[in-house]
Amino acid sequence: MAKIIIDTKIEPSEQKQISKHIYGHFAEHLGRCIYDGIWVGEDSSIPNTRGIRTDIVQALKKIKVPNLRWPGGCFADEYHWKDGIGPKENRPRRVNTHWGGVIENNHFGTHEFFDLCEQLDCEPYICGNVGSGTIEEMSQWIEYITFDGNSTIAELRKKNGRENPWRIKYWGVGNENWGCGGHMTAEYYSDLFLRYSTYCKNLSGNKLYKITCGPVGEFPLNWVVHWVETVMNKTSIPTLFKPLIHGLSLHYYTRVGAQPATEVNEKRWAVVMEKALYMDRLLAEISNIMDKYDKSKKIGIIVDEWGAWWGVEKGTNPSFLYQQNTLTDALIASLHLDIFNNHCTRVHMANIAQTVNVLQSMILTKGEKMLLTPTYHVFDMYKVHQENILLPTKINTENYVQGRRSIPAINGSASIDSDNQLYISLSNINPNQGINVEIIVNDFNIGISELKAEVLRSEQINAHNTFEAPETVKPEKYTNDKFSIKENKLVFKMPSKAILVIKIK
Ligand code: AHR
Repeated sequence: MAKIIIDTKIEPSEQKQISKHIYGHFAEHLGRCIYDGIWVGEDSSIPNTRGIRTDIVQALKKIKVPNLRWPGGCFADEYHWKDGIGPKENRPRRVNTHWGGVIENNHFGTHEFFDLCEQLDCEPYICGNVGSGTIEEMSQWIEYITFDGNSTIAELRKKNGRENPWRIKYWGVGNENWGCGGHMTAEYYSDLFLRYSTYCKNLSGNKLYKITCGPVGEFPLNWVVHWVETVMNKTSIPTLFKPLIHGLSLHYYTRVGAQPATEVNEKRWAVVMEKALYMDRLLAEISNIMDKYDKSKKIGIIVDEWGAWWGVEKGTNPSFLYQQNTLTDALIASLHLDIFNNHCTRVHMANIAQTVNVLQSMILTKGEKMLLTPTYHVFDMYKVHQENILLPTKINTENYVQGRRSIPAINGSASIDSDNQLYISLSNINPNQGINVEIIVNDFNIGISELKAEVLRSEQINAHNTFEAPETVKPEKYTNDKFSIKENKLVFKMPSKAILVIKIK
């Protein structure tokens, strides 16, 4: 049994908005994400617009992708942006040392990335190179993108076909600089952040939101705390002329060892659900530290890498991180998105890793074929929360018990939009049993005829879509006869291993 109470009466000063950027994405030069994924080239027989795959753009627009992080990841700290501009035949060929030592031909560079964002109608988020790049290089990249005048760098952009500058808000100053981005200490990185970000200038009316490298949540909590304390202490205290951070990044993967996604069993399922729920604890711990330095919660947590990390699919290049995506991944996604919604005062953005063919993808491709993963469908169902007001929700639920693990079975979040339409998203992580749910919505009249619901579920925890059967896992209508009103409560049975999104007018 689960009893849920949702409050709808919130004083305007107490209202918290769920940023659409929580539903953000990440595309790295890794495996088949960019090349043979998003980018097929102008001469490809696969339908494309200036080299960018049309079916992928259409699918991503449908889920309202709000932003895209690029070019990495670890790749960002060895990327030199000047390699990726000008005529393609003149662009240098480099070794992608992080991801399999393959040749990077730089055909997808700054202009192609902004073209992709314009096609998707989403905001660009660039991660700059601190690990192996110079301050001059980073500041000139910003000038190339944003400067309106006739400096030599801006003239180069015009010569390369883009007369008007682009606009960019989100700018990352390095990636995982405690690891692949330079193996730095928190103290050293914080000083470097101050130096680099001093020269990340706001030009021609463009305003940057500067994101500092934060911790990785899979490391011990005392290390996480030290990293956050140090970075916040050194970079967030306002002094005259000192550049400040706007966002602190956080990476956290639900890592599960070498087993491929499709080989999940119930024991492993319980482990990954528990790991996914750890995001809530991490955000609470990090927010507590940030509150000491930033009481008004202006600085955001930017969870710019998250998702499931399984063993690669058999027969694929281990460095390409190509994995299938099952119902288990869908539940991992829904748990995270609900946690982000519930932490929306601090979580200003989150980016699932990664968009196409890498880790917990939205889309998988094979030649001209493509399929939408169960995770894609979760983003499609959850997009209704974007920009809504969060509704405080108390969930009193039975636990799902597996071996020595005992974890809350029902998790979720709720929001309301400007038309007074209410959205409730719920996940039941018990893979064996449906659960009776009662929802009380304070100060709100629920009418069954005004209710619409969609469910994502399957009989198997490893159910997934293949190129032969691409619609095995997809949302279905959850019909109104499954709901009733008893003593002002909305009553229904939440199926096992399922995600439900309810809309009520
Ligand atoms: O997303 C894959 C990699 O995971 C990224 O490049 C890196 O930032 C993280 O370790």
